Amino acid sequence: MTKSFYVTSPIYYVNSAPHIGHAYTTFACDTLARYKRLAGYDVKFLTGTDEHGQKVEKAAGQRGLSSQAFVDQISATFRQLIPLLQATPDDFIRTTEPRHIQGVQYLWQQLVDRDQIYLGEYSGWYAVRDEAFYAESELVDGKAPTGADVEWITEPSYFFRLSAWQEKLLRLYHDHPHFIAPESRRKEVLRFVEGGLNDLSISRTSFRWGVPVPENSQHVVYVWLDALTNYITALGYPDQQHDFKKFWPHAVHIVGKDILRFHAVYWPAFLMAADLPLPNQIFAHGWYTNEGVKISKSLGNVIDPVDLLEKFGADSLRYFMLC
Ligand code: ME8
Ligand code: MG
Repeated sequence: MTKSFYVTSPIYYVNSAPHIGHAYTTFACDTLARYKRLAGYDVKFLTGTDEHGQKVEKAAGQRGLSSQAFVDQISATFRQLIPLLQATPDDFIRTTEPRHIQGVQYLWQQLVDRDQIYLGEYSGWYAVRDEAFYAESELVDGKAPTGADVEWITEPSYFFRLSAWQEKLLRLYHDHPHFIAPESRRKEVLRFVEGGLNDLSISRTSFRWGVPVPENSQHVVYVWLDALTNYITALGYPDQQHDFKKFWPHAVHIVGKDILRFHAVYWPAFLMAADLPLPNQIFAHGWYTNEGVKISKSLGNVIDPVDLLEKFGADSLRYFMLC
């Protein structure tokens, strides 16, 4: 029987056009996908765009566009980069597609049915740039540890019982030492989880651009719960036959180290809480920097991969980036 292999890139935020960091991750996934195809595996390589949340809504507003018009435009620039990179994804998912939205709402309901979600109020720090909540103790000089500005928010919110999963997560990292790679990144996650986990705010009420929470459309689903679910909605979830049966959980998620916590802590906790199997591995790579600073759309210190591709060609750039 042919063995299956599922490799995913992050789904990229559509707050602005792709830069060389995105090209790098896509090259890494593509090279792995090509290798596994040659080795006889039945491969699915997934990429796509992460289109909800406050960061994207804000970027659309700044350009004077509706959120939908804006995400259509920027998602297309990510899609157009793929043939230029000579990358070979089997699917491109957008979180604004009905197939994804339905799957997120179904997963939410699964979590509700298992008593993993409760309604409360979130009071604390939020960084729109990172789409992340931070504890007071994590702030450095009044900013997020990533350097992002934070704002104090107080709003009604649904919470996921993340704190209840601490021991199970530690057991997972212990029993499956390759679940997080490389080893240095695994240690980073271990230390974080050993430090204790708070319940996680998983809905927002102060803006509208997101997946409506089933049965309470005052709330939209927190963009990270929405986004992570793409890895299974692209396999047809909630349908657990067909692609889901074939490719899940033979999965490797390749991500940058900026989003390791979401993938190595939140994602397995959501899956365990919904009684779903876990992926094989989360692999986190480092960053391309510009004068020592992470290249980022939010910071605007980007290098355009299209310029480099025109000058050097896809194979040269791929070789340069991966060697
Ligand atoms: O985080 N060097 O999207 P994002 C290397 N939507 N890789 C880089 C990089 C750099 N300077 N900058 C970005 C998000 N990347 C979420 C992901 S997944 C369910 C949701 C690459 O547009 C790297 O893979 O900020 C990083 O993790 C990803 O792009 C973040 O892209
Ligand atoms: Mg980012």
